[in-house]
This record gives sequence, C-alpha cells and structure tokens, in this order.
Amino acid sequence: MTHYDYLIVGAGLFGSIFAYEAKRKGKRCLVIEKRKHIAGNIYTENREGINVHVYGAHIFHTSNKSVWEYINQFAEFNHFVNSPMAVYEKELYNLPFNMNTFSKMWGVRTPDEAKSIIEAQIKEAGIDNPQNLEQQAIRLVGKDIYEKLIKGYTEKQWGRKCTEIPAFIIKRLPVRFTYDNNYFNDRYQGIPIGGYTGIVEKMLDGIDVKLNTDYFEFIKSNPGIASKTVFTGPIDRYFNYRFGDLEYRSLRFETETLDKDNYQGNAVVNYTSAEIPYTRIIEHKHFEFGQQPRTVITREYSEDWTRNDEPYYPINDTRNNDLYHKYSELAAREGNVIFGGRLGQYKYYDMDKVIEAALAAVNNELGQILE
Ligand code: FDA
Repeated sequence: MTHYDYLIVGAGLFGSIFAYEAKRKGKRCLVIEKRKHIAGNIYTENREGINVHVYGAHIFHTSNKSVWEYINQFAEFNHFVNSPMAVYEKELYNLPFNMNTFSKMWGVRTPDEAKSIIEAQIKEAGIDNPQNLEQQAIRLVGKDIYEKLIKGYTEKQWGRKCTEIPAFIIKRLPVRFTYDNNYFNDRYQGIPIGGYTGIVEKMLDGIDVKLNTDYFEFIKSNPGIASKTVFTGPIDRYFNYRFGDLEYRSLRFETETLDKDNYQGNAVVNYTSAEIPYTRIIEHKHFEFGQQPRTVITREYSEDWTRNDEPYYPINDTRNNDLYHKYSELAAREGNVIFGGRLGQYKYYDMDKVIEAALAAVNNELGQILE
C-alpha cells in the first residue's frame, strides 16, 4: 500500500490548494472526496455549452492582489461584474441599493433627493434601540427599501419573520448614492472562462484522487495511509457529533434548460416578495456572456437543514459559535489533523478567503508560499 504524507479529505477549493502546494513541495498527497466530482461547491458542469454553477452562483471577487494573481495561474478570468436585479411584485430594481434603485423607487434624480427621503423615513420610524431585524433594517435604510427589497427575501432566507430574527444579523446595509450597480466593492472580479471545475482539475493534476469515497468508511480499512490528514468536511461529524450538531441553512436548486436563448437578460435576479417561494433565479450563460441557442436557469430555494441535507450557510448564533468553540478545542488537541475550509472551520468563507486560509495552512505546515 502506498504511504502518503497527506490524506486530504475533500476535493473542494481548500483541499485542492493544499494538495497542489504540498505536491510542489515534494509531498505525496491522496485526495478523497465523497461526491462523484471534484471542486466541492465551486463545481461547474457543462450543459448546452454553458458552464452551470451547480451549487449556486459563484462570482470571484477579491481586493487581495496576491490572491487574484494566484487564482489567475489556473484560469483566465472574464470581465463579468455582478449587477443583480430584484423583482418585487411587478417592479424591477437594481441592486445593490444605489441611485438606480432610488430613482426607480421614488422618481428622484439626485443623491440629495434620495438621501432626504431615506433620512425622513428613518426619522419617522424613530427606532433607537432595534429589537429585531425588521427594526434594525428600517433604522438603517427606511421603510420603503426594507419592505420592497429586504423583508420578503430575508424571511425566505431564514425561514422566519424578520420580527423574529435578532437585530445583530444586520450590522450595516450599504447604500450607494452613485449610479453604480456593481454589487461588490472589491478591486478584482470575474468568472473563470471555461468554469471553475477546470481550475480544480489543474490543481489536482498528477495527484491521486479517489471520488465517491467517504473518509469515515475509507479510514476504517486504511488507518495508517498517511502521516497527516487535512480534513475539510464538517468538524462536528469528525468528532461524531459529540457535543451536538452545528446548524446550517440549506438550499435546494431546481435547474431547467429552456428552448430560448435568453430568459431574464441577467445572471442573477432576486425575488424579494414573500409570495414567490424561491429567492433567486440564476441564468448561467450570462456569467460568461454566452451566445448559445438555448439557456439554463436555476431557481434557488432556501430550506431548513437536517443532518442528511447539504450544509450551505452556517448559522453563527451564540449556540452554534459556542459549540464550534468546543469542537475547535478538540481539533487543536487532535494530533496530525489540520481542519480547514468552510465545513472544517464552520465559517462562511468567500473563495478568496478560502485561498488565503489554505495558503496560510500550507505556509504553516511547509513554509512560505505567498507573501
Ligand atoms: P467545499 O464544500 O467546496 O469542499 C469540501 C469538500 O469536502 C466537499 O466536496 C465535500 O463533499 C467533501 N467532504 C465533506 N465530508 C467528506 C467526507 N466525510 N469524506 C470525503 N469528502 C468529504 N464565494 C465567493 O467568493 N463568491 C461567490 O459568489 C460565492 N457564492 C456562493 C454561493 C453559495 C450558495 C454558497 C453556499 C457559497 C458561495 N461562495 C461564494 C462560497 C464558496 O462556495 C466557498 O468559499 C468554497 O466552496 C469553500 O470551499 P471549501 O473547500 O472550504 O468547501
């Protein structure tokens, strides 16, 4: 039996970067992945010549120049700028909240006009000490933006009324008084031409990878296969849920191919009314300015999570954070295991932050990679 330096559990971005860099340092790695494909949640799949974001829309954005240069070794990025739209009843608004949104909502033209409406609504509500998310949102942006663009969407995301969600969930609601629909403020942004899976294929090139392989089964019959383990699965599962389950919100995706070339004219359209059951529709071809004759769309539904569902968004409330703290104390005492990635660290990580974290883990193990 081959002996490896590292057994890497999970072929997502974290595990794949670790494997790639460890191999460059002369280490032997085995990557095991319980799904039938590599790339974890950034997996894209070709349908109708379109790269479909199977686990939800993924737009790469970062202000970290080193991370941008790092990821550009593996793919060329296009100039996609995320400019989502929001549908509320019969109306269509630009996001994030900016002068285009306000102009549509109130017929205003100048920043001063928009500011005075928002300030008047905030003043009229008179909320100093918000007791829930509804009050907090109104205190920050006023009643109109809250009711049309935040309320229904947030209630669908959380599966609860905004009046039952704690205020601290929203700390800031960025409002932009320019006609700028770019959702992100980051310096660099784009979509890898050809999809994300190709990036991970390049990272894992020449590395042993076993798909359809669950760590907990695999390790029973291969106990001494590697000197160290990099575990990017759920940390509570690793410790057999000893202190209880860490909780998540889950998602359900309904994907459909349509016999038309353009369904909604934009990659991301949010549905902010509570009556529409899905939160958004993604039209994948628009991430890459596709000209294919057909189109693929995905409706995204926010769902409650149970242990058998795919975990998507960690619920970082006090209960779960305390629980994670207990698991991370166990993890720190677990010799020869590095816990990483969104599941191993129970954290919502954007891709650029996963790259930073994976490179930091490699640096810690094997020496400097990235300044
Ligand atoms: P990831 O989950 O990708 O990989 C972990 C892997 O481990 C999985 O493939 C899993 O199957 C495997 N695994 C788990 N347990 C195992 C076991 N027991 N045995 C074997 N394998 C096991 N970021 C961004 O920058 N821009 C964006 O637009 C978005 N959009 C976005 C949308 C949605 C809906 C979500 C939920 C997330 C985003 N993200 C994002 C975040 C992005 O998805 C995230 O940063 C990376 O996918 C995290 O990579 P990891 O390697 O940490 O986890």
